[in-house]
Amino acid sequence: MDSQATPRKRQSKKERAAAVRKALDARNIVLIGLMGAGKTAIGRRLANRLDLPFTDADTEIECAAGKSISDIFAEHGEAHFREGERKVIERLLNEGTQVLATGGGAYMNEQTRTCIAKHGISVWLKADLDVLLSRVLRRNHRPLLKTGDPKAVMRNLMEQRYPVYGEADIAIQSRDVPHEVIVDEIVSALYNCPLLQIEGS
Ligand code: S3P
Repeated sequence: MDSQATPRKRQSKKERAAAVRKALDARNIVLIGLMGAGKTAIGRRLANRLDLPFTDADTEIECAAGKSISDIFAEHGEAHFREGERKVIERLLNEGTQVLATGGGAYMNEQTRTCIAKHGISVWLKADLDVLLSRVLRRNHRPLLKTGDPKAVMRNLMEQRYPVYGEADIAIQSRDVPHEVIVDEIVSALYNCPLLQIEGS
């Protein structure tokens, strides 16, 4: 290393967050990952850190339909839910910069993936089976987990989805640590992400 080089000033968390927010330039941050990965909990805190609005796509789908996701699945079937999910996410991605948490199946739709790539930076919250399972078993509102043994369902979804989730711009390991630790890691990854072209990062 050049001993004459001036050491770069270490940035505060606030400065990093501000640099990321500025570099987003109308793009969204889109959280993807399996049920239980923490997309909503982490997404809310990430939005707070970046001083951006937070939206949960599943909540928006429920508002648009006037019923819960369980009821949409039960009354109209999964295909109907997926179509609504695609439309709602496309609308949200065009609403201006925000942190958007998507349901676990959303990124499996090719049109949705293309739309996310066009309007946002995708962040995959990756987690091990045991972590996901311990979280999803705390609640019973997810229709896909009512169709069989939750462990087998989750393992199957991991096999199908992880290769596709792997297309995301950023992957962060979600695990049982304080949410703020994961938020720090996401902000650092965004700061260093070539798509954001932050000078000096
Ligand atoms: C689904 C995940 C759920 C919800 C729906 C289907 C999936 O969202 O969209 O039950 O296909 O993985 P979360 O990932 O937020 O639980």
